[in-house]
Amino acid sequence: MKFDPVKHWNDRHFELPKNRDTSSYAKDKEKFFPRNSLVCDLGGGVGIDSNYFLDKGHEVYLLDISDYALKAARNTAVSKGLGSHLITKEVDFSVGMFPLEDGLVDIVYSRLALHYFPLDRMKEIFSEIYRILKNGGKAFIAVKSPDDKREMGALRKIAKETSPGIFDENGLIKTRFTKVQYKTVLKKAGVLSFEVRDCVEHFGKGKVYVKSKAEKLLYIEIIINKV
Ligand SMILES: C[S@@+](CC[C@H](N)C(=O)[O-])C[C@H]1O[C@@H](n2cnc3c(N)ncnc32)[C@H](O)[C@@H]1O
Repeated sequence: MKFDPVKHWNDRHFELPKNRDTSSYAKDKEKFFPRNSLVCDLGGGVGIDSNYFLDKGHEVYLLDISDYALKAARNTAVSKGLGSHLITKEVDFSVGMFPLEDGLVDIVYSRLALHYFPLDRMKEIFSEIYRILKNGGKAFIAVKSPDDKREMGALRKIAKETSPGIFDENGLIKTRFTKVQYKTVLKKAGVLSFEVRDCVEHFGKGKVYVKSKAEKLLYIEIIINKV
């Protein structure tokens, strides 16, 4: 049967506990957002981090492939009286452009949602991120790292590496590109100023939602500065 990404992600969001905490990555990065920013959360799912940004006074465009997740995110925002500060858009990042105008947002934020696309598509995604950022805007992106040995061990048990850094888990593509590969693609995408570095996120005990069950994850963090 053909892999259906919308069904996959709707099912996955349905299964996950609804009372998850804001990620520590979001809390760390929000400190760098200008006050009252316009933020785009790419692949923000049920909007746990997006809703934290709303609580902090920002406005958020939340883009995700899962209509189920976007409804949940909207319900949370509405229940807090912040529904008018959140715009959700159902978007598949594997094709086309982001439905946002050039230079619109102060911040692009994306946690664990952009390691699903091959490098040629990542080039287009980075140029889309750059396009929608205002001059002076910043992007904070966290993706899984091939240097996290425990996560890689867990991934290799359930997915087949079809080409270097590209894994197929029953039709769902997961990528584990290196920092060097990301730097090369960012340059090809025309991004003039960026950093690519290691970053660790710690989860609390009993709050682990990754397959390896590890209490910390090593990410690659990509920071883009639009100059
Ligand atoms: C691992 S979850 C991360 C969710 C959230 N950012 C977080 O930190 O908990 C990956 C997210 O990317 C979204 N996603 C996966 N593939 C996508 C695609 N092709 N287009 C848009 N969103 C996608 C999923 O629906 C999901 O919300």
